[in-house]
Amino acid sequence: MTDKIKCKREKHQSKDDMINLKDNVSRYDDLKFNRRAFLKTAVGATVALGLSTLPFSVKAFLGDFEEDRELVEIAKLDDVPKGSSITFNYPTEKDPALLVHTKAGELKAYNSACTHLMCPVFYEKESEVLLCPCHQGYFDLNNGHPIAGPPQRELPLIEIEVQNGIVYAAGRKIRHG
Ligand code: FES
Repeated sequence: MTDKIKCKREKHQSKDDMINLKDNVSRYDDLKFNRRAFLKTAVGATVALGLSTLPFSVKAFLGDFEEDRELVEIAKLDDVPKGSSITFNYPTEKDPALLVHTKAGELKAYNSACTHLMCPVFYEKESEVLLCPCHQGYFDLNNGHPIAGPPQRELPLIEIEVQNGIVYAAGRKIRHG
């Protein structure tokens, strides 16, 4: 008899405990804490994402220079008179390039594989443009931008430095757009 009463009592007590526990959790607090936790996580994730993409943003801003600025000799300046061009390879032996000494005396260099279907691009002295004869693609000699024909993208620009009468390649800039 006593056991029965005791058992009943424990059951009753346990039910009361659950009710008390449930009553202790305020719906308002629960929502507040959940919202705060969510906001903390969202802000943390946003900051982490922003920081992880920072190097790409800086690279895009600086213009995608891919090589370090080690100087690679192309030719003697005397060997490239005004209004002429020579071919070379840069940055590797598999990358054909063109150095042009314009009629105005500027030095311009680009990788010479056409951005349409990779035919070699030539310097056309009379009109001072770069021509791809495969499909009559034309590029602006001043900046390598496509100006006529099928090519849609610029030629990769090769930075030039001249020291003691020697012309050097000093880096390559791949442009998009
Ligand atoms: S490959 Fe140069 S225009 Fe087509």
